[in-house]
Amino acid sequence: MAGKKTKKQSNKSWQGRLTADADAQTAEMLASLDVDFALWRYDIVGSIAHAEMLQQCKLITKTELAKIKSGLKSVAADLQAGKLKLRIELEDIHMVIEKALIDRIGDVGGKLHTGRSRNDQVATDLRLWARDAADNLSDSITALQTALVAKADQYSHVVMPAYTHLQRAQPILAGHAVLAYAEMLQRDAERLADARKRIDICPLGSGAVAGTSLPIDRLATAKTLGFAGITRNSIDATADRDFLAELCFACAMIGVHLSRWAEDWIIYSSVEFGMIELNDAYCTSSSMMPQKKNADTLELIRGKSATAIAQLTGMLTLIKGLPLAYNRDLQDDKRFAFTTVAAISQALSVAAGIVATSEFKESNIADGLDAGFLDATALAEYVTAKGVPFRTAHQIVGKLVAQAELQGKTLAEMPLADLQAACDKITPDVKKHLGAANVVKRYSPEGSAGAKQLRKQLAFWKKKLG
Ligand code: ARG
Repeated sequence: MAGKKTKKQSNKSWQGRLTADADAQTAEMLASLDVDFALWRYDIVGSIAHAEMLQQCKLITKTELAKIKSGLKSVAADLQAGKLKLRIELEDIHMVIEKALIDRIGDVGGKLHTGRSRNDQVATDLRLWARDAADNLSDSITALQTALVAKADQYSHVVMPAYTHLQRAQPILAGHAVLAYAEMLQRDAERLADARKRIDICPLGSGAVAGTSLPIDRLATAKTLGFAGITRNSIDATADRDFLAELCFACAMIGVHLSRWAEDWIIYSSVEFGMIELNDAYCTSSSMMPQKKNADTLELIRGKSATAIAQLTGMLTLIKGLPLAYNRDLQDDKRFAFTTVAAISQALSVAAGIVATSEFKESNIADGLDAGFLDATALAEYVTAKGVPFRTAHQIVGKLVAQAELQGKTLAEMPLADLQAACDKITPDVKKHLGAANVVKRYSPEGSAGAKQLRKQLAFWKKKLG
């Protein structure tokens, strides 16, 4: 810019139009540096790609490109070393970097923003960040799944109760229960991969809202930055944040899955259930009660889902009702997205450690297996296989359970005569159908909780996870 430099112009390179400075509180509101500082690497990479393209399109000379690139690299080095002064009146990391560049290389630094607006610049940086975030989350999911599969394998022989309504339901193998979480996480990984397809599109070159009259090459910058394609519509490209909302949803869903797992294991690790022993490294004690071993990490993981759900809600609320195209509201998208990804990344990593180090309490589980008539459904199915309609069989066994409860016996302990009095189709072989361990042996179709199905699942996961 020609002309005398005022104090203000030396602070804000874009403020030719305005005559008053923001007061301190307003400057603080306008600033997003505290959060978008995290984007600095993406901003540098994006700017270098943009500058290279400007040179290829003859909008800047080779000498100018060289100056801009070495200037950006020295700014990056200072950012890395924590040596760059972060002045909030510059608002965000994008302006901090541009100002530092101009301070170092002079007016030529002002050519970097040719054919570019902060709007497409921010959208580009965010997509680069979101792409890495999706990849890192998916690696963390794989690590957790790997821990789950190892644990399922270790306890593939253990028979335990499955619950519905948190009441004892049917016997299952512990490995089967553990692998249920690997399935949920697999869908989460697929959701991330799907969201990534829409993240991986380059908005750079969309300018503020309408593109630019300068002859830039959008495909070139997209290629340098490794994007799979470019956005079709400059208005949409600068206003769109669905890609971030999708990432937040994927995180919220992971959070909800982790929360369900955490809740299960909190319950299973209680004295009342006594089915899982957590490693001390993942527990805390009490400042008052010396005996306490609390599952705080599981509780915090359960709690992180609240963060993810809240931030997703915030993100959707932020976007809703915004007129096209960019509005400053969107500056706060990062607060939601960054917080969500940080919370869920941490939850996934700690979860993998918990899974890897926890142990099922085999003898406790075995000792408790006779309680709760886990074999009642199997008995009804045994009678059904002998030609009795299932609804009738259900009634017969329901009555037998009530009778057994009065006698203080399990179904297997009931005298054969009592069983036969309830249903004349029952023969002595019934004993081989009763008891949790016998029941598990007989599960038939794919996906059931028995040993052969578990072997199949383990083989599937081992192959998939490598
Ligand atoms: N820090 C802002 C953001 O992240 C930069 C965009 C400002 N654009 C503008 N037209 N005022 O959204």
